[in-house]
Amino acid sequence: GRVAVIYGGSSAEREVSLKSGAAVLAALTRAGVNAIGYDPADGGLVGLEALAPDRVFIALHGRGGEDGTLQGALELLGIPYTGSGVLASALGMDKQRTKLVWQALGLPTPESVMLETDADWSAVVARLGLPLIVKPVHEGSTLGISIVESAEALAAAYHEAARFDARVMAERFIKGDEYTVSLLGDEVLPAIRVEVPGGFYDYEAKYLSDETRYHLPCGLGDAEEAELGELCRRAFEAVGAEGWGRVDVMRDVEGRFWLIEVNTSPGMTDHSLVPQAAAHAGIDFEALVLRILATTLE
Ligand code: DAL
Ligand code: MG
Repeated sequence: GRVAVIYGGSSAEREVSLKSGAAVLAALTRAGVNAIGYDPADGGLVGLEALAPDRVFIALHGRGGEDGTLQGALELLGIPYTGSGVLASALGMDKQRTKLVWQALGLPTPESVMLETDADWSAVVARLGLPLIVKPVHEGSTLGISIVESAEALAAAYHEAARFDARVMAERFIKGDEYTVSLLGDEVLPAIRVEVPGGFYDYEAKYLSDETRYHLPCGLGDAEEAELGELCRRAFEAVGAEGWGRVDVMRDVEGRFWLIEVNTSPGMTDHSLVPQAAAHAGIDFEALVLRILATTLE
């Protein structure tokens, strides 16, 4: 049967998705899979239905691809697809409601508040402290995110985030190190520590910079890495995520882990984290793509 790799799309992460999709398509083709690329920004759902694929590999990021809407359409069309279903995709795209689920289960995640145009900025600062993070609730690749160092800068950060999303949140800043854990089926892949010399792991550091350092092995002791992996597995399952994905975490200076977000359709570019973690576990890019594709049949 034929596999359609869906990529591109019209979210703010289109450029990232074009790279993810090209890498996935090339790997499937090398592996002898009958695969074809499809950009929904060109032909919409009608074009996809006309292609009549037997399975879909979702290489879209952000709204319209990672957020449950495409997953719902594919359910209605009866076409199996990679990764999480409707609920987990929608929940994972909503960073604030993801936190509510984690909090209800007693999983650690930094405190946050929703911001509105007429927010009481000083009350937000009093509650979360400084610096704090401002982010669009439904965005990826760090787009629209700011670290706010002073109460005066909060309104501008809100307006920047609001360019990307009608819902904006402020979150307590966790000082420490950034880790990410990739999940592949039932397997927890090795954690990666991400280090951005003198900076913040933003869009530039994620996709453009050669300075960003990926520590693999991550430098934690075995017991602590196992604890981190178990926390991420629970966080992934808490939102109902399936197949594959990635959970981003901060470790504070006292060694406590804080869950930041779950990505149900993570990047698959040459700078991306899941392929690096898989490679460290002995799973090359082709094998990774085939393993993800196999989840459509589960
Ligand atoms: N949102 C980007 C693609 C990631 O999580 O890898
Ligand atoms: Mg994300």
